[in-house]
Amino acid sequence: MTNKTPDALDLRPWIEEVRALGELVEVDGADWNLELGAISELNVKRARPPALLFDRIPGYADGFRVMTCSTSSPARLSSILRLGHHDTHAGLVQALRGKPRQWQTQAPDYEPVDVGTGPVFENVASGADVDVEAFPAPLWHEKDGGRYIGTGCMVVTRDLDSDWVNVGTYRVMIHDRNHVGLDMIPGKHGAIQYDKHMKAGKPFPVAIVIGCDPLGYLISGIEVPFGMCELNYIGAILQRPVSVVKGQLTGLPIPSGAEIVLEGWAHPGDERIEGPFGEFHGYYPGKPATAPVVTIERVYYRDNPIIMGSPPAKPPNDYSYSKAVMRSALLIDALQAAGVPDVAGVWAHEIGGARMFNVVSIRQRYAGHARQAGHILNQCGVGAYMSRYTIVVDDDIDPSNMQEVMWAVATRSDPELDIDIIKRGMGSKNDPMSIAYPYKAPFNSKAIIDACRPYDFIDEFPEVAEASKELQQATLAKWHHILDK
Ligand SMILES: Cc1cc2nc3c(=O)[nH]c(=O)nc-3n(C[C@H](O)[C@H](O)[C@H](O)COP(=O)(O)O)c2cc1C
Repeated sequence: MTNKTPDALDLRPWIEEVRALGELVEVDGADWNLELGAISELNVKRARPPALLFDRIPGYADGFRVMTCSTSSPARLSSILRLGHHDTHAGLVQALRGKPRQWQTQAPDYEPVDVGTGPVFENVASGADVDVEAFPAPLWHEKDGGRYIGTGCMVVTRDLDSDWVNVGTYRVMIHDRNHVGLDMIPGKHGAIQYDKHMKAGKPFPVAIVIGCDPLGYLISGIEVPFGMCELNYIGAILQRPVSVVKGQLTGLPIPSGAEIVLEGWAHPGDERIEGPFGEFHGYYPGKPATAPVVTIERVYYRDNPIIMGSPPAKPPNDYSYSKAVMRSALLIDALQAAGVPDVAGVWAHEIGGARMFNVVSIRQRYAGHARQAGHILNQCGVGAYMSRYTIVVDDDIDPSNMQEVMWAVATRSDPELDIDIIKRGMGSKNDPMSIAYPYKAPFNSKAIIDACRPYDFIDEFPEVAEASKELQQATLAKWHHILDK
């Protein structure tokens, strides 16, 4: 460990960095009621969406702000991940290769450090002063079941019978001034800890971090191994420990530079209807259902606090780009760990919410290599949940370029020979297609499409009809005044 000074996960220096990059737009006067959400949604569908910082939100004190679109560009994402400056998608993906495995290995060395106090305690509300509705939580979309204060958030919880602290990104809906609903999908680590408490009839301690350095929710929103604390993993990325303070009520660790923290307990038997809210794949699946309620007993917040917003919607959405980048890196690591050689690249496409439509490109080495890569990508620990289409292409195809990928599918695969179906795979009750499934439990089926040139005919396969890379480069250099237009 080089730098031992703990990092408070302060959002504000990062905002200044983004401003210096020319990637911050400040928006004054947008309404929390649908307008802020619609602006953010339209913004993220642009070619190079800036980050948005909303202020002067009608009905709220000036300075009570909301940030969105924080992770939606290569430059911002590389700065969040402390990878140096990468302005291109390809540069970021290259810089990220091998990093998740390294961070995971180093995480145990970066135990968070309790610094006693910090900016998060600038304002403390307890008892009758607790009012979650004092913050401009948006109604993001017309069909949402309520106002979601927690989207780009970190939900900190503790295990019942061990010291394990988990941090997950789970959506948080406001019920009233001191109650929020928490939606944790079964099997998620927070849900496992919650279930244990409920079975033992004990209140479940919760601290919800509503805004901080976006590295916080970026890592809470990916699959960090069972039993590992995300704060350690974040420390490995920062190469220094996270600076935390202890929640006055629960003792849970909270980044000392956090913007807003809601602390309280989910009590046994206290569940209420939550949702609906869109999902990462772009639908409102299922019907509103009951979810745990957290009774908020303390609110900590900085002066002029900032809610970090990252709502789901039809992709591309607020976090689909960062999910695609992060999950692609995790999937490459998983393929390599499983012994698949010569993986040129992986891309978990935004259109499938970075889960349902994944592509791997390989340099084919032996008969069966392509199917091996496809099946493992589809079924590995990081990849199996809700995977649907997995496509394997040769290394002359850029897996992130949909035009090239579908050209390979159209021209290098034969449906009868090259599509494998896995039945009764790992699905989800949140799958929009589950409405048409015959299963009682959340299964789905999965297709692996081998769109590589057939290995047994690889030398005879027709040549690609296009200019060579050298001719293309020479032509671009000489004729850029025509071709750059
Ligand atoms: C912005 C965002 C919102 C998310 N919302 C939810 C949610 O409401 N419920 C849920 O179970 N997972 C949600 N996820 C996915 C989880 O955060 C993710 O699966 C993570 O690995 C959960 O943490 P855990 O592995 O510690 O359980 C969300 C992810 C992101 C990035």
